[in-house]
Amino acid sequence: MLTALTRDEKETAVGRGTRLVHGARPPYVDGRRPVNPPVVRAATVDFASMADMAAAQQPGSAGAQSFTYGVRGTPTGFALEDLITDLENGHGTKLYSSGLEAIAAVLLGFLHPGDHLLVVDTVYAPVRQLLDRFLHERGIRYDFYSPRETDLARLLQPTTRMIYTETPGSVTMELQDIAGIAAIAHAHGDVLLVCDNTWASGYCYRPLEHGADLSIVAGTKYLGGHSDVLMGSVTATAATFEALHEASVLLGLAVSADDCALVLRGARTLHIRYPAHAERALRLADWLNACDQVAAVHYPPLPDSPDHARWRAEFDGAAGLFSIELAPGVAHRAAAFVDQLELFGRGASWGGFESLALPCSLHDTRSLETGADRGPLVRLSVGLEDPDDLIDDLSRALDATRAEKPPAPGARSRR
Ligand SMILES: Cc1ncc(COP(=O)(O)O)c(C=O)c1O
Repeated sequence: MLTALTRDEKETAVGRGTRLVHGARPPYVDGRRPVNPPVVRAATVDFASMADMAAAQQPGSAGAQSFTYGVRGTPTGFALEDLITDLENGHGTKLYSSGLEAIAAVLLGFLHPGDHLLVVDTVYAPVRQLLDRFLHERGIRYDFYSPRETDLARLLQPTTRMIYTETPGSVTMELQDIAGIAAIAHAHGDVLLVCDNTWASGYCYRPLEHGADLSIVAGTKYLGGHSDVLMGSVTATAATFEALHEASVLLGLAVSADDCALVLRGARTLHIRYPAHAERALRLADWLNACDQVAAVHYPPLPDSPDHARWRAEFDGAAGLFSIELAPGVAHRAAAFVDQLELFGRGASWGGFESLALPCSLHDTRSLETGADRGPLVRLSVGLEDPDDLIDDLSRALDATRAEKPPAPGARSRR
């Protein structure tokens, strides 16, 4: 239906940017085609005959991408799946209406009552609530492990079925040894390794190549890239794809063709935007590293990062997302600093064209670390503004924060 480059074409011919531009195109019909896959808004698919319907519904008639009913996917969605499968170097991809839905689909689809899972302590915070309020009630037990754990095997139990990780970790940005964890998981029997790969978005790191079984990306961030659409994806290996597909179908998880078209539009320029985010982020991170108001910058591309060697060895790029610790002081400083910024917006997401800042507390988002021995944390998502302007903004905000007095108890913030 839609053309995607084959593995052989990928290996012999063209780079990632070319594949993002030329992959997932519609075929020529009568010697012409639109450049982009059409937006096929469809709930109902009308078949010419029952025989045609039966043929389309045959398992394996077009793999998981048979256009039979809107919930099962549309040609627009299939095009985006192909593009992400190519980026992530996987066997197949399923789409979800947000990154969190993609995570929920994996946890619900692959875990059963009585199963145990290990979760990295730096996991995207809402996953904790999902585990606590939803999976726990359904008899699925879990433990958190430190992103600096050196002996993960000792934490595995006879009932462990999944290790769920995120690299780098949320806010504090520790990289994971995916190949090492995969070896431990697979040596333990049928333990699945699931990796949230949103920071790399398939662009500069591909967990499946290092042994992970499933890779999750919140397309809401860099793939969409424009802060106007929600999307999640899970890319699977040949061994895990069928179960992923089945869970998505059983749970009735579907995405709109319009949203797929928006994410496809964003993804066409990922190779231009993504390194531009990183270039700006590195300039800002370097500058912040030299500021006496900043106690630490957590960004693996910085040479003094404890994860720098792994980043250099395994990643071929970086996102524009990192965090800083302000000089030790009262926690209100993080909010006061963020309030002073003019070019950075204040928002929960990241990966869009605009810069964002967010104070982060580890107190209620970690089990193994309280954050008490760190300065106030601020996460920065560096957008595509001119870096000199962003540095001026940070500089002015840091100076103003230093001058500001702590708020009186009960006082309201300026915003
Ligand atoms: C690492 C990570 N994974 C997943 C998500 C969830 O994505 P969404 O906002 O599309 O639900 C987020 C959101 O911020 C995230 O930071």
